[in-house]
Amino acid sequence: MIIQTYPDLESLSRAAAALFAQQAEQAVKVRGRCGVALSGGQTPRRTYEILAQPPFREQVPWDRTHIFWGDERCVPPDDPRSNYRLARKALLDQVPLPRTQIHPLSCRPSPAAGAREYETLLREFCAGTPPGLDLVFLGLGEDGHTASLFPYHGALEEQERWTAAVYVPTQGLHRVTFTPAFINQAAVVAFLVAGAAKAGALREVIQKPRDPRRLPAQLINPERGELYWLVDREAAGQLG
Ligand code: 6PG
Repeated sequence: MIIQTYPDLESLSRAAAALFAQQAEQAVKVRGRCGVALSGGQTPRRTYEILAQPPFREQVPWDRTHIFWGDERCVPPDDPRSNYRLARKALLDQVPLPRTQIHPLSCRPSPAAGAREYETLLREFCAGTPPGLDLVFLGLGEDGHTASLFPYHGALEEQERWTAAVYVPTQGLHRVTFTPAFINQAAVVAFLVAGAAKAGALREVIQKPRDPRRLPAQLINPERGELYWLVDREAAGQLG
């Protein structure tokens, strides 16, 4: 586990963009292509915007890069809550990435069917060893959730499936998410965490005893890969 603290969201986002570029170049060199899963929420927006600008716009091998999502809300693709919409507007519409290499998560004809269909796509893309993506970006919720892996949800214990459909009663939203088992197959997993509101959750997830049903982000521990925590000073405010 590598924890890197940055003065602010801007410097954190530049570091995240550099990690994306580095992983993409490395994967393309070794495997001829790269698979990255984007996270949702608001924190990664600036990272995506920076990736769409020089130098990263020219540096990243977009023509060999495939974009996935670690989770999605079951809303229309043009809904402001859509993780796909966030990435499309901040990044994907601005870079020369073939549209056939953008793989949005769908909840149709149902969240469960959408999850199964996405798993089939992932298994086809990841066929070969090791069966994981090259980079998975994640966020951290104030309740310790990550992706759409929420406290005490059955998806936390899923060991075989790579995706799961979840219902979030507090939001009245169905979602589809990667499972911890699949996230942990990745070569690199990077949490992006910013703001004082996340300081308590970050301390609990990193420094408190393991209690992964209450703190799902504690389930993220890549089997063969690297785990990065890219955090700003405010989010790190309660770390010893
Ligand atoms: C989602 C995300 C979720 C997010 C965290 C942090 O779809 O909501 O995948 O896990 O990363 O809730 O969200 P913020 O970056 O908006 O704080």
